Amino acid sequence: MFTYHEATKHSYFSVRYHPNRIDWEKQPSPFKIYNRFLRMVKLDDTKPLHRMLYRIGGITAKKVYPGVEYYLRTIPSAGALYPVEFYFQTRDVEGFEDGIWHFDVANSAVKLLYRLGAEEGVEVHFADKRKIRGFLFLLSTIYYRSSWKYKNRAFRYCLLDAGHGLGTIEASAWLEDFAANVRYRFDKPALHEAFGFHEGEFFLSAAVVGAWEREEAAYLDMRLPSAGTVYERSPIIEEAYADSLTLHGCKKMTRFEGFMFDKKRFDEAIYTRRSIRAFNRRPISKAMLDIILENLRKPILSDCDEAVTIWYVVNRVEGMESGLYREGKLCNAGDFSQKAGYLCLEQALGSDSAVTFFLTSGSENYQPAYQKAGHIGHRLYLVSSYLGLGCSGIGAYYDDEVAAFLETDEMVLYALAIGN
Ligand SMILES: Cc1cc2nc3c(=O)[nH]c(=O)nc-3n(C[C@H](O)[C@H](O)[C@H](O)COP(=O)(O)O)c2cc1C
Repeated sequence: MFTYHEATKHSYFSVRYHPNRIDWEKQPSPFKIYNRFLRMVKLDDTKPLHRMLYRIGGITAKKVYPGVEYYLRTIPSAGALYPVEFYFQTRDVEGFEDGIWHFDVANSAVKLLYRLGAEEGVEVHFADKRKIRGFLFLLSTIYYRSSWKYKNRAFRYCLLDAGHGLGTIEASAWLEDFAANVRYRFDKPALHEAFGFHEGEFFLSAAVVGAWEREEAAYLDMRLPSAGTVYERSPIIEEAYADSLTLHGCKKMTRFEGFMFDKKRFDEAIYTRRSIRAFNRRPISKAMLDIILENLRKPILSDCDEAVTIWYVVNRVEGMESGLYREGKLCNAGDFSQKAGYLCLEQALGSDSAVTFFLTSGSENYQPAYQKAGHIGHRLYLVSSYLGLGCSGIGAYYDDEVAAFLETDEMVLYALAIGN
């Protein structure tokens, strides 16, 4: 098991004897804002490609508490801390200059960081250097936004949030009749230099929404000045990132099936998606769970597709025996609702749900496997939202006790719950 994963497990004792202390004075901003003199394009709801971009992490709700207000987005995020940033390159995209852009979420706009020369392209740092006509998204994390609260476990949440980001790109692109092709195999350190990142920001993944041309990109001359501040570095997270950077024996997934949803309703599901805070314990139907499972299992286009096992505890599903299921098969019959809630750090979400999911993997490629778990989690959110069900990601669980309950040696990557 990856050393970092082992070192950041929660247990009944760890959460009681080593609780996270939060320094509210040091809370980082969830927004990266580039120089205001850069060319900025406000996203316009009436333009399909602008809408496509907005659905990728745009703001969909505002919450106001005495003295603070914060914004919720199309993607969920552990603790609403949003450690993931979205950049993209455009080539031959109508309405956009060829260049490298940043999604300025705070301003609901995109900012042009760099204009591309004819032979230039980010592709030069990818395993496949052919030019991409269309969008090439790059997802980074500014990990301190999350480690400020969740300490060393935060790298897991950054990976899950990035996986949600990939899921939102997939869903948004599908609405415009494009497929999103996830990419992990690129020279991330070379891009960190080009983007002027400090040690606290690094790339996790990319997604192509476009087509490959024959010709290869020749170079990328971009050298952006350093932007942003880091408050506190975490050697454990930076080491975990470096140790999981080299990928081994990646297998490609080249099949994409698309979704079978009504596009208008699916679009609404993206805009209205929220994390449920409490379930009312009413059951869901087996037909709904079948639709959900079918969509979770659909292949994800990727250059490093790692196996992720889907386990689920059926608590309340009409027409189904309660119990623990693995990939569609009943492993252990019985009412495990209390157990599932306990395993999720005693959160009622795990016990009051109709179904509580656990995603595990035995993969050697930690970054792609973890992000795939987040991507599957995002599909779960969106399909649930589409069907009128509630969903919540659950990043906090007792790792070893979950593994013992599932009787697996695999790493437990994510838990989620759905229901009414
Ligand atoms: C990786 C991840 C882990 C999460 N873990 C929990 C959790 O343990 N308990 C919980 O109540 N919510 C959890 N959430 C839900 C977030 O609190 C929620 O996404 C955030 O507050 C933003 O709200 P929204 O999803 O309604 O937009 C998690 C979300 C993500 C993406």
